[in-house]
Amino acid sequence: MKEEFKIYRLDNFGRGVSYYNGKVIFIENAIDDENVEGQIKEVKKNIFEAKASRIIDKSIHRVEPRCPYYKECGGCNVMHMSYQKQLAFKQEKVKYLLKKFADIEEDKVMPIIATKQFGYRNKITLKVREKIGFYRKKSYDIVPVLSCQVADPKINDILKDIYSLNFQNVEEITIKATTLGETMVILKTIDEIDEEYFANKLQYITDNLIVIEDGVPHTVFGKGFIKEVVGKYYYRISSLSFFQVNTDGAQKLYDKIKEYGSLQTNEKVLDLYCGTGTIGIYLSDSAESVVGLEINGDAVADAQENIMLNRVINVKVEQKDVSKVIDDYENIELVVVDPPRSGLSKKAMDNVLKVNPNRIVYVSCDPATLSRDINILKENYEVKEVTPIDMFPNTYHVECVCLLMKK
Ligand SMILES: C[S@@+](CC[C@H](N)C(=O)[O-])C[C@H]1O[C@@H](n2cnc3c(N)ncnc32)[C@H](O)[C@@H]1O
Repeated sequence: MKEEFKIYRLDNFGRGVSYYNGKVIFIENAIDDENVEGQIKEVKKNIFEAKASRIIDKSIHRVEPRCPYYKECGGCNVMHMSYQKQLAFKQEKVKYLLKKFADIEEDKVMPIIATKQFGYRNKITLKVREKIGFYRKKSYDIVPVLSCQVADPKINDILKDIYSLNFQNVEEITIKATTLGETMVILKTIDEIDEEYFANKLQYITDNLIVIEDGVPHTVFGKGFIKEVVGKYYYRISSLSFFQVNTDGAQKLYDKIKEYGSLQTNEKVLDLYCGTGTIGIYLSDSAESVVGLEINGDAVADAQENIMLNRVINVKVEQKDVSKVIDDYENIELVVVDPPRSGLSKKAMDNVLKVNPNRIVYVSCDPATLSRDINILKENYEVKEVTPIDMFPNTYHVECVCLLMKK
């Protein structure tokens, strides 16, 4: 039976929060101050959810989602809110989590930095079964998609052209594009494929075709990598290496890291979880030297190429696990950490504290684990400022950069 709900606030996943018979109900597709209708489901013991199937009183922040797949596709979740409302939601979410888990006052959180709302993603990965598309919300079913509103238009051009090909034995299709106009199609296979067929079909559609068999990539045609520019630096992106998915956002993020780093040219930097060396290279002209540590060998190889490509002589990248014992790095003024969503492990935290830098710039794509880690770091470091950056518009995700100074 359908019930009517008043929405009091948004939770951290952008869902409306309401109450029914003393229970908290999380409601998809609902905005605070709305009255909506929906049906309650108990999704786990004592966890209740509903989906707003009818909006009775509409928020002034509600907009018609631009994407025809939005209702089913699991990719985006707050596209029914105006962009201003999405930004306000993320700003509040960061403030709430930092206060709750690290007791950081709201005035430390600076206004969120916006990026392009649509067409920002430089990479998409489509699942292939009988259909080609993205996972349906909370399911492994596939929603077929012919275009993606958050993807770079060059990616959509390729998607449109390849959609009708025969992808037998292909499990995933990844398409990458850069602002310099270079593109790459990556086919992850489950069994042998007819590479000649794909080479013929794709040669006028993309610059590179890569096939990944048993986790190992090989280039069918093209250079095997694409180039991107952020600020004055060029970066090589290969099939497996990590690159920020929002290039416009990456520049804003790296500028904020540089500002927070406030480096002098006689200062040394340690760039932990450095990926392909992007942040270290971006900081190189204002530091004496930068050492980057990264666990993934492919990323380290790309980092070496990036160092040469940009002719920087004061950046070095080493393949190391930050969660194991790391060398004694002495006289480090600034440590930048940019860990995966899980944040710093206990050992990684100990390592950072052992390096004992004057300043830490913590870059995080999950404000919950950031708050947990700040709560530990704040024993020795004062939180100066946190800036949220909207790297993932139309989703509930938010990136944060935090400056900590030794007490
Ligand atoms: C969020 S990415 C950051 C990449 C880079 N800073 C950038 O902006 O492009 C996290 C990186 O941490 C690396 N990583 C994950 N666990 C690690 C560990 N224990 N030690 C070192 N690097 C690790 C991953 O391979 C990945 O490249």
